[in-house]
Amino acid sequence: MTPSGLPSDMRGGADGAGWSRPRHGGRRLRADALWLSLGLVVLAACGTQAHPVTFNADIGPLVRRECSGCHREGGIAPFALTTYDEVRTRGPGVRAMVESRRMPPWPADPTYRVFLGQHTLTSHEIALIGWWVESGMPEGEPRPLPPIAPPPRVQGLGEPDLVLEMPEPIRLPGDRQDHFFMAKLPFVIPADTTIRAIEFVPGNRALVHHMNGALITYSGAAKADPRHGAWYSEMREGSMEGAHSLHLENDDGTLAPITLSVANYLPGSNPVVLPDGIGGWRVTRKGVFLLNMIHYGPTATPQEDRSRVNIYFGDHPPTRPVSQFILGTLGIAPIVPPLVVPPDTVMTFRSQLEMPTAISIVNINPHMHLLGRSLLAFALTPAGDTIPLIRILHWDFRWQYFYTPPKIITVPARSVIHLEVVLDNTTANPNNPFSPPREVKEQGGSMRTTDEMIQLIISGFPYRPGDESISLEATPQSTAPGGH
Ligand code: HEC
Repeated sequence: MTPSGLPSDMRGGADGAGWSRPRHGGRRLRADALWLSLGLVVLAACGTQAHPVTFNADIGPLVRRECSGCHREGGIAPFALTTYDEVRTRGPGVRAMVESRRMPPWPADPTYRVFLGQHTLTSHEIALIGWWVESGMPEGEPRPLPPIAPPPRVQGLGEPDLVLEMPEPIRLPGDRQDHFFMAKLPFVIPADTTIRAIEFVPGNRALVHHMNGALITYSGAAKADPRHGAWYSEMREGSMEGAHSLHLENDDGTLAPITLSVANYLPGSNPVVLPDGIGGWRVTRKGVFLLNMIHYGPTATPQEDRSRVNIYFGDHPPTRPVSQFILGTLGIAPIVPPLVVPPDTVMTFRSQLEMPTAISIVNINPHMHLLGRSLLAFALTPAGDTIPLIRILHWDFRWQYFYTPPKIITVPARSVIHLEVVLDNTTANPNNPFSPPREVKEQGGSMRTTDEMIQLIISGFPYRPGDESISLEATPQSTAPGGH
């Protein structure tokens, strides 16, 4: 537990990013042309297939494994890719997205570090799709297709033990403004327990930009009824006034213990599930899941959202509680130079932090907004060794995963963590929120997508010998929509 006063993180640690549809960026396509030609060479080397590339034999199984987890009835993607007809009608679009490596979405460079739930296509698979589209998208001999990959959710944990839903929808007026709310979802359970994983499920996916969740627990008779008080309050320009109406404190007015960042949702992110006993939180019978901050993007029409939270209990009390620290905006290591990007410039920013003691890392979440172009993070040990953390060659603000390595990453004492990012404030950046470009800067941690942020959020705990061999594979498919 990290008992702390509520206001310290009222503005949320990790915030969200915009949701729009950028067009293809020139730089990405160039790199992909290389990938593609490599793929064709591989394909040619394989004898250009003894049989023609068909949907039933080649493309169907591939799409069902790598795409259908999201592209399915009720999935998070806007259309299904599960049957021959569905894929054929979108053939050229599918080809363009896989050749530009924008689908399946996996911004982290798998050659730098592999994470759990990774889904990427090989050059050979990309070439195969191109070849199939080129040759008129034949269906092929009938044969059974493999089952559709499960959605990228908390797999293997089964049904949630507790579901907390907004008691009524939050209404957005359709005024083309960002809106920020604090909301509480109270619970009273039969006995104290351990929470192992928390999954935030947005009601209105297109509108929820981000959610940062905290857990408040009330001991014994400290609180008669956690449901007492308003259940939500809009936060205007960072003002905390409305928060008092939620009555989050104990009945005697003292602050109840709060653990911040127990659940974070960003576009495309999946909940983090660690092995039982690592991470997780002890909760008392009465508590509140606090949407410390839920951020809705601008909309021109009135809309509503009714999000919910799925909670999974664990069997073992957390023996290794996980905490977080941040390099960059709102963090403990500054950005150099200060985050101001003049119009028509491409700029590099850095942040670094020396670790006083050895640490064990279980999760990494890089965060930027619309000007992000690329990101690199690594640790440099006192012995001069480099420990790769994450590299993103083509930043995509719509896919901001919480990356969990298959095994704990251990970083020795006195290592320096380095973060280096490139921001592109030119017209060549298809996501630039301004045309013509304007000066964009950090505004005291403002979450507006037209302001910038740079964060590297690292989750972990103090190192113990043996940590390097601890597997973080909680369940075989904790985040993967298929494959791997
Ligand atoms: C993790 C979820 C996920 C996976 C896996 C995934 N997609 Fe998508 N895809 C989306 C979402 C969400 C969108 C719509 C938002 C966007 O454009 O990013 C989308 C959009 C698309 C589009 C339309 C893009 C446009 O702008 O017109 C195509 C084509 C596509 N996906 C193909 C694929 C293919 C092919 C695969 C597998 C090789 C795949 N996707 C895997 C989530 C996914």
